[in-house]
Amino acid sequence: MDMRPEPFEPPAPIPRTVPPSRLEIIRTVLRNPLELWGEPSYTLPWIDTKFINQRTLIVNDPDLIRYILVENAANYEMSKVRRLILRPILRDGLLTAEGEVWKRSRKAMAPVFTPRHARGFAAQMLEKSEEYALKYEAAGHGGMVVNIASDMTELTFEILSETLFSGQVAAERDGFAASVEQLLHRMGRVDPMDIMLAPTWVPRLTRIGGKKVMARFHDVVSQTIEGRRSQMRDAPETVPKDFLTLLLELEGSNGLSRDEIADNILTFIGAGHETTARALAWTLYCVANAPHVRAAMEAEIDAVLASGAEPVEWLNLMPYVRAAFEEALRLYPPAPSINRAAIEADHWVSPQGERVDIPKGISVLIMPWTLHRHVLYWEKPRAFMPERFLPENRERLHRFQYLPFGAGPRICIGATFALQEAVIALAVLMKRHRFDMTPQTNPWPVQRLTTQPRGGLPLKVSAR
Ligand code: HEM
Repeated sequence: MDMRPEPFEPPAPIPRTVPPSRLEIIRTVLRNPLELWGEPSYTLPWIDTKFINQRTLIVNDPDLIRYILVENAANYEMSKVRRLILRPILRDGLLTAEGEVWKRSRKAMAPVFTPRHARGFAAQMLEKSEEYALKYEAAGHGGMVVNIASDMTELTFEILSETLFSGQVAAERDGFAASVEQLLHRMGRVDPMDIMLAPTWVPRLTRIGGKKVMARFHDVVSQTIEGRRSQMRDAPETVPKDFLTLLLELEGSNGLSRDEIADNILTFIGAGHETTARALAWTLYCVANAPHVRAAMEAEIDAVLASGAEPVEWLNLMPYVRAAFEEALRLYPPAPSINRAAIEADHWVSPQGERVDIPKGISVLIMPWTLHRHVLYWEKPRAFMPERFLPENRERLHRFQYLPFGAGPRICIGATFALQEAVIALAVLMKRHRFDMTPQTNPWPVQRLTTQPRGGLPLKVSAR
């Protein structure tokens, strides 16, 4: 008899059994796109459908995903919605750049995220996590309730700012992480006009007020650049060899333009911390509901820390902590949907000989949200079971059934950075503290730019 406890099933919308009306589609997209998807999205390998006026191919089949994101990636461009929502904010930053600009920028920035830099990053991640964890010392054994969602946003922002900018983002520390959130919330919202694919000159009412926040950001970015430039001029020996210096050194005919440098600073601040923060908060929430997972993580953390291993090794030495984080990324992928549009007509034939026609211009939705909860590919898809990601079980997974970081040429440039950061932060936080449910803990996942708990996520922190 299997004596293991029933795994925890964290909250998520129940797949719809009746297709929504047109009006309901619009309402749901505005309220919470995660609530839109019906049974077929969680049970069929692909669906050719119409979504408002746009023909759309929803793709779950891992082989077809590989075809679109890797094998014929050149035929699939950024979706119109991403162009409409993110491009006005992040412009030619790496996430929203296309064509030659993207190619040149990706190549130029890739060296920062290679293993060569991992050791330095790990030391900074450790230091920032330890500093942050001090704030929880006050909780003692009695405990205190914190909003773990906003706390993790603060922590990951501190880490990002230290690792990529040596702590020299020209903004008052406390207000800045909050205003990044504000920017993304104001500007990064789907507006009814976006769903209708209205041209960009049609005003987006939901984004009014966002312009002011944007202007403040551009000020912060130019001050950051100016600060570093004068340091490079006046005291070159004191200049840190970080991402910011690298970007500034890239300015020139074959590198990046002035504007592209500014766009990338904003992009990396935007893409580089909220995603990891969300996943950390969901991990701690799931772990608070899974005592045997917590026990296994604590045992692993205690053993590795007692061995005196360097923080750069922790990601490899803590497979269970990593698995818990990866399982939270499966259940609550911070980027719940990866959208593309077909440039030219295309088709694909499955290994069983089924043909999928992909007409020119069709919108292709690859959704980690449905893929990660798909009945064809996962056992107990709604349950929190970190064991799936332990090294010995991992080979049973198809490389393209799990896509928290995307895949192909546009795969997340910060994936290893994020995993390393998460393992270090979890180890430091869980070494001395435990996180438990409170009577108010009742999160509901909503899709904004990231998958986040509506209204925050209260947990009780106390000394272990
Ligand atoms: C758990 C944390 C993270 C998740 C789940 C995540 C997810 C993703 C996904 C799914 C994409 C691909 C989007 C697409 O193909 O359309 C992406 C791209 C990107 N990510 Fe991440 N990300 C995370 C952390 C980070 C970090 C830490 C950084 C920077 C330090 C970062 C920077 C970027 C950038 C710049 C791109 C655009 C890459 C390109 O288009 O060439 N991300 N991310």
